[in-house]
Amino acid sequence: KFDGLAATPQMGWNSWNTFACDINEKLIRDTADAMVKNGLKDAGYVYVNIDDCWHGKRDDKGVIHPDPERFPSGMKALADYVHGRGLKLGIYSDAGATTCGGKPGSRGHEYQDAITYAEWGIDYIKYDWCDTKGLNSAGAYTTMRDAIRSAGRPMLFSICEWGDTRPWDWARDVGHSWRTTGDIYPCWDCEFSQGSFSAWGVTRILDKQAGLRQHAGPGHWNDMDMLVVGKGLTDDEDKSHFSAWAMLASPLILGNDVRSMPASTHRIVTNAGAIAINQDPLGVSAWRFLKTGEVEYWAKPLANDEWALMVLNRGAQAAPVSFDWGAYHINDDLSKRTADFKHKRYAWTDAWSGKTGDTTRKLEAKVPSHGVVLLRLKAKT
Ligand code: GLA
Repeated sequence: KFDGLAATPQMGWNSWNTFACDINEKLIRDTADAMVKNGLKDAGYVYVNIDDCWHGKRDDKGVIHPDPERFPSGMKALADYVHGRGLKLGIYSDAGATTCGGKPGSRGHEYQDAITYAEWGIDYIKYDWCDTKGLNSAGAYTTMRDAIRSAGRPMLFSICEWGDTRPWDWARDVGHSWRTTGDIYPCWDCEFSQGSFSAWGVTRILDKQAGLRQHAGPGHWNDMDMLVVGKGLTDDEDKSHFSAWAMLASPLILGNDVRSMPASTHRIVTNAGAIAINQDPLGVSAWRFLKTGEVEYWAKPLANDEWALMVLNRGAQAAPVSFDWGAYHINDDLSKRTADFKHKRYAWTDAWSGKTGDTTRKLEAKVPSHGVVLLRLKAKT
């Protein structure tokens, strides 16, 4: 498959987490403008993704049209507008006959819809899994992949199947990313459910990534769902959430209202150190190599023999950390990389505090409750 798209995890914004079905073309244009103006574009966020509920009806030839009241200028004009700002436009559909929001899905219209999206100038398709009883997931997503290919426009294909049929086993050559879980919810460690819908807090989603890292790599990522930074978590929790998504090489798709956000939220989502860890060209996801009480240590090998290290305190109390580098020899079977702290010295910088140090001295820190330390390590010569 590898077509050069999503060589590193895709970055952008999506309408769902804040606006759900209350979307329109002005919101999308204003969001694109804001992303240019407030530096999100420069930080790497390029996709502006319209989620569910943009749809109007299919015409008598079966061609889908946007809701004429919400998108009166049409999708082509909107794509032109977004492209004019140096950004890319994403859209949403579903493998079933109806989307999760009850709008027309693509079942039986896959090739027709892919051509329509290509004609509009769409760059990204998120493809959901509602109303698919009896459908084979690998088959349904492969059909849409083939439809996208034959439409002839490069469009990133984001599989949203929630992990139910182990997409990591079959989607590597089908989509550029696949959801590994149900929907995220802006809480630290809760499970939210209402009827048949359930959603998970940040640490619940993190725990569901165990055993999946070997399936991710350039062009095919585990998607931990869209970010909820700025949507109710504390600043420490937001930093931890962003750090974890960065370390595990998940797509970074913002879900907050980026037209107006507090400076503290802006600082988190534009943190260059965290983003560089996510976007590292080696494309290897992190693993947890140590857990002591509520404190977890995760490592991610980076290009040029650099490393990222995340110390995450999941506990309700601040945790004193004293990490003796010399005691560790971190060996990654997957990437065949080794960080030999016994024999090699590394200088580190904390992406959040800006503090620096090196591995000849213990890492001493007091990690706040639900907080994080996120280091980038570079070998000293
Ligand atoms: C599902 C998806 C969400 C969102 C909604 C839209 O729940 O997992 O990300 O796209 O559908 O209805």
